[in-house]
Amino acid sequence: VPRFNAVVLGAGGVGKSALTVRFVKNSFTESYNPTIEETYRRDIFLDGERFTMEILDTAGAEQFTALNEGYIKAGHGFVLVFSLTYESSLREIDDIRQQIARIKGPDANVPIVVVGTKLDLVHEREVTRDKIRQLVNEWSLPFYETSAKQNWHVTDVFQDLLMQMRDR
Ligand code: GTP
Ligand code: MG
Repeated sequence: VPRFNAVVLGAGGVGKSALTVRFVKNSFTESYNPTIEETYRRDIFLDGERFTMEILDTAGAEQFTALNEGYIKAGHGFVLVFSLTYESSLREIDDIRQQIARIKGPDANVPIVVVGTKLDLVHEREVTRDKIRQLVNEWSLPFYETSAKQNWHVTDVFQDLLMQMRDR
């Protein structure tokens, strides 16, 4: 079975673990437990073929971002996560995106999906769709708005990434 390594990166508390756990275990918890590092595995079918996706859920906390370089070297594809309820988490995505380009090389055509989380928290939303559209167009990256809580568009994220990794 072909195996790919996906790495989930983004600021602290944006919902990286909730997204990953929803995809892998189909569950959600309201309580917040900051991650140090966690690896998950799930088999996915794409066009009738089975793939194993190993998903590394990383720590968003500032003191761990020095580890990003190693994660980026080891990863085949990346899920860049920000929260729709927290505008400044979008800036961190841009930093990470540039870090990936620097480490993998600017023309490496690295599989990446950008994810805005917590779509269900409509009243707390800080980032407009126009703002994101403008950025992801500039970056030429696919983008999804998700809710791990409501299980909205979570599978789409990982399917898209798998497709990019397979077709590379
Ligand atoms: P670190 O591991 O510290 O980097 O955080 P993280 O990015 O993994 O965030 P985590 O998934 O732990 O979620 C942080 C908090 O946001 C938790 O209390 C989650 O329950 C909540 N949360 C995550 N995703 C959603 C969502 O889609 N909707 C709602 N309402 N809450 C969410
Ligand atoms: Mg986490």
